[in-house]
Amino acid sequence: PAGQEVRKGLAGVVVDTTAVSEVVPETNSLTYRGYPVQELATSCRTEEVAHLLWHGELPDAAALAALQEAERAQRALEPAVRAALEALPPSCHPMDVLRTAVSVLGARDPRAERHDPDAELAKALSLFARLPAVLAWDVRRRRGQDPVEPDPALGYAENLLHMCFGEVPDAGSVRAFETSLVLYAEHSFNASTFAARVVTSTLADLHSAVTAAVGALKGPLHGGANEAVMHAMLEIGEPERAGAWLRAELAAGRRVMGFGHRVYRNGDSRVPTMEAAFREVAAARGGQRWVGIYEELARVMLEEKGIHPNLDFPAGPTYHLLGFDTAAFTPLFALSRVAGWTAHVVEQRRSNALIRPLSSYVGPPQRSVPAR
Ligand code: CMC
Repeated sequence: PAGQEVRKGLAGVVVDTTAVSEVVPETNSLTYRGYPVQELATSCRTEEVAHLLWHGELPDAAALAALQEAERAQRALEPAVRAALEALPPSCHPMDVLRTAVSVLGARDPRAERHDPDAELAKALSLFARLPAVLAWDVRRRRGQDPVEPDPALGYAENLLHMCFGEVPDAGSVRAFETSLVLYAEHSFNASTFAARVVTSTLADLHSAVTAAVGALKGPLHGGANEAVMHAMLEIGEPERAGAWLRAELAAGRRVMGFGHRVYRNGDSRVPTMEAAFREVAAARGGQRWVGIYEELARVMLEEKGIHPNLDFPAGPTYHLLGFDTAAFTPLFALSRVAGWTAHVVEQRRSNALIRPLSSYVGPPQRSVPAR
């Protein structure tokens, strides 16, 4: 209605309750189902965190074994899905490939229109299990390499690296990668999760919700930032150039990707954990140049604008050092966020209300269509 206060970007608006995760900006805290994300990121496997998000509790040994068995059994890229992806132009963004894959998998899933929690959780696990092969196939196709079959002896993170690179790197690199996946897995009502909840609120299916979420994540103000961070670092090239580059960007009125956050104003709770992982990978892989650029950008941004880095800032160069092409960074974020998105789909379904806000009309007043 006209005259009512408009909250642009829904900033500060509380739209629902959630028991999946909590962000407390005052204390820079993020918990998944009550557990501090820093503890999860340094001590849990991706599969354990997915179980926590879906079921509310960390798995015991039997539950973890059951989840891993089901996940490992569904990893292969089905020929029909591969054929659909091969029809896409190789020039399209990897997020377009991932978004299409989710859509195709939904169209092929016989449980698509079953919305009971058991079916939803089974579909969530199926997406979680199947999407790594999609990303790995695409990564290798872009490099002119044949796909690598999944290895059922490996955990989720190791297998993802194995399918992308044909080998599992050292334990430190795997741990840093897994840390990023856990930190990316969930973050309350961010734009992509909210998109998934909006779609779910119409009683549409889970795959439609996740397809919308992948689309929302692609943008540089959200998940696309980790890719944009690396483009900037590659352009900067050397630590000595970072300060001047940043000041020029700010003077031109441009946003610097990897900095700032809608909710955190005094620093992103996930950054210290990811930064420590980044430093370890950089030390092991000769990436001091990127650490230098990272430190200089962070220092000058704080000095010039008082703005802190977000998770995408350390995650970007970590993925680069692990050997991923820049265009694969946001799909990696998406793979991990599948657990969070689908936990929210299930929660939205349990106490649904159609999400349909109002707008304040500012167009022409009512008028008659001229005679024609
Ligand atoms: N670079 C330069 N200035 C910035 C930035 C930035 N990254 N972030 C905020 N500002 C400035 C902004 O220009 C504004 O200044 P002024 O008041 O002088 O106009 C002030 O800070 C407040 O910004 P805002 O637009 O009100 O903040 P917001 O809550 O709408 O924006 C944000 C949040 C994440 C969209 C924004 O910080 C941004 O564009 N960051 C860069 C993109 C990015 O890194 N996104 C990843 C977010 S976290 C992980 C994820 O979800 O993927």
